Amino acid sequence: MIWHKQWIFGNWKMHGNLADNARLLQQLSTINNNNAHIGIAAPFPYLLQAVDLVKNNSIVIGAEDCSRFADKGAYTGEVSATMLADCGADFVLIGHSERRTYFNENNEILRKKIDNALACNLIPILCVGETLPQRQSGQETAVVAEQLAVLQGLSVNHIAVAYEPVWAIGTGQVANSEQIAAMHAFIYQEILSILGENVTIRTLYGGSVNANNAAEILSIDKVDGALVGGASLKADAFAEIIAHAKTE
Ligand code: PGA
Repeated sequence: MIWHKQWIFGNWKMHGNLADNARLLQQLSTINNNNAHIGIAAPFPYLLQAVDLVKNNSIVIGAEDCSRFADKGAYTGEVSATMLADCGADFVLIGHSERRTYFNENNEILRKKIDNALACNLIPILCVGETLPQRQSGQETAVVAEQLAVLQGLSVNHIAVAYEPVWAIGTGQVANSEQIAAMHAFIYQEILSILGENVTIRTLYGGSVNANNAAEILSIDKVDGALVGGASLKADAFAEIIAHAKTE
């Protein structure tokens, strides 16, 4: 993983098939923006395909989740961080709001996933963000602080977080620049106080990032990249977002 560039990472969620994935990754492999570190979080069945398709370029592949159980065992349906690393993944999303909502993932579960990822040299990208009622009642920083508390006691030199306000995911409604700047500054401050002043941080913004708003979002202070859902499924849109990555 490259820690000094802006990360433009796609999150395919439960989308894709062998033919579309191949087309998309082939188109992405022709992109040339030296300021961007490009990554794709793919569904489990397509990890090997994706890893193989990017082997001659610098795109990194990751998973969208991993098991809270370590390594291997009688956990039907689970996929361990060990298996992801074995398949060539470099990173894994942890605690995406859809996982928190539909699978009741809390800090206790998420910490196990983070520990498992780190034990396999996978970079966990911890996803945090408040719901609309939480923001409307002024609780957004308290909510995000609680979510970041999962990092307490970790011994790491690098950490990646995605700030994704739940109300901005898949809705077309983007947080405004002031909201993003304020939350990213808060996240930096929290992480430095939890993990120490020497930790290297990437804080990505996610939530309805598209070709039209990427330039503005990626120019906000302490926005170290973007986590892109819907727009990462279209090569042209994702390429346009990548084109806006800049050297910090
Ligand atoms: P979206 O999803 O870009 O479709 O809003 C972002 C995400 O959930 O990571």
